[in-house]
Amino acid sequence: MHTYLVTGGAGFIGSNFIHYMFKKYGDDIRIINVDALTYAGNLENLKSVEDKKGYTFIRADITDKSAIERIFTDNPDIDRVVHFAAESHVDRSIRTPEVFVQTNVLGTTVMLNCAKAAWELEDGSFKEGCRFLHVSTDEVYGSLPDDDSAFFYETTPYDPHSPYSASKASSDMIVKAYMDTYKFPANITNCSNNYGPYQFPEKLIPLMINNALNGKKLPVYGDGMNVRDWLYVEDHCKAIDMVINKGRLFETYNVGGHNEMHNIDIVRIIIESIHDMLADNDERKAHVNDELITYVEDRKGHDRRYAIAPDKIRSELGWEPETMFREGIRKTIQWYFDNTEWMKNVTSGDYQKYYESMYSV
Ligand code: NAD
Ligand code: DAU
Repeated sequence: MHTYLVTGGAGFIGSNFIHYMFKKYGDDIRIINVDALTYAGNLENLKSVEDKKGYTFIRADITDKSAIERIFTDNPDIDRVVHFAAESHVDRSIRTPEVFVQTNVLGTTVMLNCAKAAWELEDGSFKEGCRFLHVSTDEVYGSLPDDDSAFFYETTPYDPHSPYSASKASSDMIVKAYMDTYKFPANITNCSNNYGPYQFPEKLIPLMINNALNGKKLPVYGDGMNVRDWLYVEDHCKAIDMVINKGRLFETYNVGGHNEMHNIDIVRIIIESIHDMLADNDERKAHVNDELITYVEDRKGHDRRYAIAPDKIRSELGWEPETMFREGIRKTIQWYFDNTEWMKNVTSGDYQKYYESMYSV
């Protein structure tokens, strides 16, 4: 029986991961979710598991060394760390880089240090079976040319451009340093863009769904021809479970579903799907059309194209994405249809201020 310490479990991917793991392993695992509950953390995402015997939530900041130390001391059975906690939005990193360095670089170092202290034996080796997975991003590799034959491999040199990707690249380097220096039992996964339930509406897909449903403009940056490689969040969770339990220690695995799409096409599919899914007598149906699309000023330093080569995780671990985009986007839209209260709660207060300062449309 494994005890997982999940950081950032109240965020988008972290909460999906906790649901995925309990669905798969039931009472055979324990999960301790450590989250500071920033604007991106939401315990509503975990309502259905909060009373589960194997689940514990601890509010703590990963940069707070003594709080994290205490969690390891109080829970000596922790033998898995899945580290999601991070500042994750590129646009915010362009405005306030410092907090990205603080959380993503310093916070990751604190997590590594505390896990090392908890798991290290007198001879410098580590307790049998303990493993740390650092969840990272394809953005560390930089930007690919507009050419369908170029991909990010695990061997692609790091070339981050935004403060977000630079902070994630730095955190990856610290993890690599722990593996090289101490033989610390870790892995890194570098995944492409995720979408699915519980994603905060500052990111492209939930922002467009929310705006379309409310008859608001759909702000497309630049020429709309930037390419992202979209993966349904559950497929990312499956990859993380495989890597932490079956992956070769010290290895990096790229995760992506070969689903590269131009932003403008994503927006058009969202409009088309919402239009199709709304009932004929739903008054919102009339305003969900291409006229909502509006091109706005480009993101500073906007990476042109991301595309993952997932060959290694496929061949070594047998990972395959299960949810294709057309199905995944309908499931996602349906989730937002069914969770209007969730959206209302997360878009009240500070979100409005953020939106108004980011977008003039
Ligand atoms: P998110 O912003 O939705 O969630 C981040 C979570 O971390 C929140 O619950 C927040 O409260 C928590 N957190 C932030 N700072 C903290 C701190 N100092 N201490 C403790 N908790 C803190 O992010 P996400 O989209 O779920 O991404 C999770 C991880 O996956 C990140 O490391 C991100 O870099 C990586 N990633 C994301 C994507 C994507 O498409 N979203 C793709 C690849 C990798
Ligand atoms: O590639 C993985 C990364 O994907 C993760 O590491 C990040 O945490 C995650 O936020 C995401 O980064 P992106 O910057 O690619 O995602 P975002 O949803 O912010 O934007 C996707 C694309 O859509 C990007 O080219 C910018 C564009 N965009 C975004 C927003 C919010 C718009 O055109 N308009 C918008 O309003």
